[in-house]
Amino acid sequence: MPPRKIIIDTDPGQDDAVAILLALASPEEIDVLGITAVAGNVPLPLTAKNARIICELAGRPDLPVFAGCDTPLSRKLVTAEHVHGKTGLDGPDLPDPTMELQDTHGVDFIIDTLRSHPAGSITLCPLGPLTNIAQAFNKAPDIVEMVQEIVLMGGAYFEVGNITPTAEFNIYVDPEAAEIVFKSGAPVTVMPLDVTHKALVTTERNEAFRSIGTPIGLAVAQMTDFFERFDKEKYGSNGAPLHDPCVTAYLIRPELFSGRYINVEIETVSDLTLGMTVADWWGVSGRPANATFMGDVDAEGFFTLLTERLARI
Ligand code: BDR
Ligand code: CA
Repeated sequence: MPPRKIIIDTDPGQDDAVAILLALASPEEIDVLGITAVAGNVPLPLTAKNARIICELAGRPDLPVFAGCDTPLSRKLVTAEHVHGKTGLDGPDLPDPTMELQDTHGVDFIIDTLRSHPAGSITLCPLGPLTNIAQAFNKAPDIVEMVQEIVLMGGAYFEVGNITPTAEFNIYVDPEAAEIVFKSGAPVTVMPLDVTHKALVTTERNEAFRSIGTPIGLAVAQMTDFFERFDKEKYGSNGAPLHDPCVTAYLIRPELFSGRYINVEIETVSDLTLGMTVADWWGVSGRPANATFMGDVDAEGFFTLLTERLARI
């Protein structure tokens, strides 16, 4: 099978960075056409810069990186420096990028790419708030039916929330955008906290990254070390969840994940539960299914894959 053509839409973020590195290390399965940055973990100028830092770390200064939306569709931006540090990529000491940001807006890149390829041949991989994807769907509704699949990190059901008691960060930041995406009719596959909280970077797994013995192995160990401090304290677990790489791992080894095709609605009104992904896991609502909502991951298989692939670049 030819590699799957994807656009990574992202707000790096250390875990976004690892997700990007995994994709770039897997050219047999994944063909990254471009990276669109969105405001999320940190403001847009930093996510657009961090995306380029990661491309250069991976030896891919040729990969086009686009800046997308700098604020959610209709809300003030909420950021997560408390998790990711001031730069969004705290941990390793990586040089500023020399590659240029593309002139085209990220949203237009998404639209142009979908329109210029055969229908059903492009997968969108959002790793941050869904602002760019929703904006592209609003601006060019014709592209929705051209999307092969949207594989995203966001939401939670049994794990409920990480930024509020009921909401996961990516959905909470731009719930209106999430609603547009989940209601769009495009095939949506979701990696919620229910999955990513099982992908824990334990001390041994962190050591395995470090033992690769390359600049990438070291940078990934340092990045996961950094946000581990915060997450271990918060959850009392023996490692920090590695959220976004679940998206790119799914493209390579879908059999590592299992879930249900169910109805998922986004709460956009209630202050108390804003951004909640109301996932009908038990099929009690009678509402039509609109997303494959993952619930489990083979964590050993996931980390074996990740470590093997990172060692290739
Ligand atoms: C998500 O929020 C961000 O902090 C991470 O990069 C991930 O995409 C987890 O809730
Ligand atoms: Ca992210």
